[in-house]
Amino acid sequence: MIFPVILAGGAGSRLWPLSRQLNPKQFLPLTGESTMLQGTVARLNGLDVEPPVVVCNDEHRFLVAEQLRACGVEGAQILLEPVGRNTAPAIALAATSVAKTNPDAVLLVLAADHVVKDEPAFRASVTTAVTFAEQGKLVTFGVTPTGPETGYGYIRAGSYLGEGVAELEEFVEKPSVDMAQAYIDAGGYTWNSGMFLFRADRYLQELERWRPDILRACNTAMEQASDDLTFLRIGASAFRGCPEESVDYAVMEKTDSAVVVEMNAGWSDIGSWSALWENECKDSQGNAVKGDVILQDAKNTLARADHRLVALVGVDDLVVVETKDAVLVAHKDSVQDVKKVVEAIKSDG
Ligand code: GDD
Ligand code: MG
Repeated sequence: MIFPVILAGGAGSRLWPLSRQLNPKQFLPLTGESTMLQGTVARLNGLDVEPPVVVCNDEHRFLVAEQLRACGVEGAQILLEPVGRNTAPAIALAATSVAKTNPDAVLLVLAADHVVKDEPAFRASVTTAVTFAEQGKLVTFGVTPTGPETGYGYIRAGSYLGEGVAELEEFVEKPSVDMAQAYIDAGGYTWNSGMFLFRADRYLQELERWRPDILRACNTAMEQASDDLTFLRIGASAFRGCPEESVDYAVMEKTDSAVVVEMNAGWSDIGSWSALWENECKDSQGNAVKGDVILQDAKNTLARADHRLVALVGVDDLVVVETKDAVLVAHKDSVQDVKKVVEAIKSDG
């Protein structure tokens, strides 16, 4: 049995001012009619899977429940974290919860904020991966890289195991730009898509081996969990004490049981405004606009107006995002620093 585990606890602060603490990007319709969370659920149609397990922050519980209801999902488990401790603990909570009643369960771990344009290709890669996951492998999905992006994990493939499947030889999370460029030049590397397929018990064994401290904290937090209607609220004091680490550093860089399955499915991680711009339909001058926007001699801009008329005149490579209470104007090359604005606002408040 395959249980989708949807990680929906990120802050999305690089997409401020649209993405906010109370309504982060995974709960927004950033690229279409439905929200990113709903798009993640819709992508599963056609795969033989159980209802999803969603792991999110306590303060987003009603958003998640309502968005799942609105797209017809029944029987989802929603695990509530009192604080974010990154993805290694979040997956441990889901694995523990699922394994309790389904010891053989295979987890399909998905981020709630990815765009996948070719859904049949996504499902084909997952289907290829199932046999390897059932054998106890930790499957990663490799995406053909397009540049030395430093926000991703890099995977070097080893021996061939089948069509589009290889042993995972090396996994490097978020390398420096020089290392990333060296990997691109060397060839044979793919980006880690941030989706995984593995048996729940195998993930917990690997976590026990590499980060027993994280597993211990999660076990205690699960013992202290309490049911709250459709939600499972994780024990707060134990979980607050859990070390913060991503699955990539905690397990994937270290394990020797991983394989990589190719996934070329029009994937992108809408991590920043420039990534969103790349993903959008643009006019002949490379502008992507939404809302009441007038452009005069503007090129390669992203402009969104929610409440007021926005006009851009004689500018290139800008991001302008207007919302009710905040306006962002940034150069497209500096959008990674938008999160610093959020940090500054938080420390002021
Ligand atoms: N429940 C929960 N709790 N979810 C979380 C938490 C948390 O504390 N932190 C992050 N998430 C969710 C995010 O909402 C997102 O859906 C997913 O987990 C991945 O987290 P990101 O913070 O977006 O990770 P990343 O983009 O820096 O890196 C990962 O994804 C890349 C591809 O997009 C890594 O797996 C990289 O190796 C990979 O290349
Ligand atoms: Mg991401």
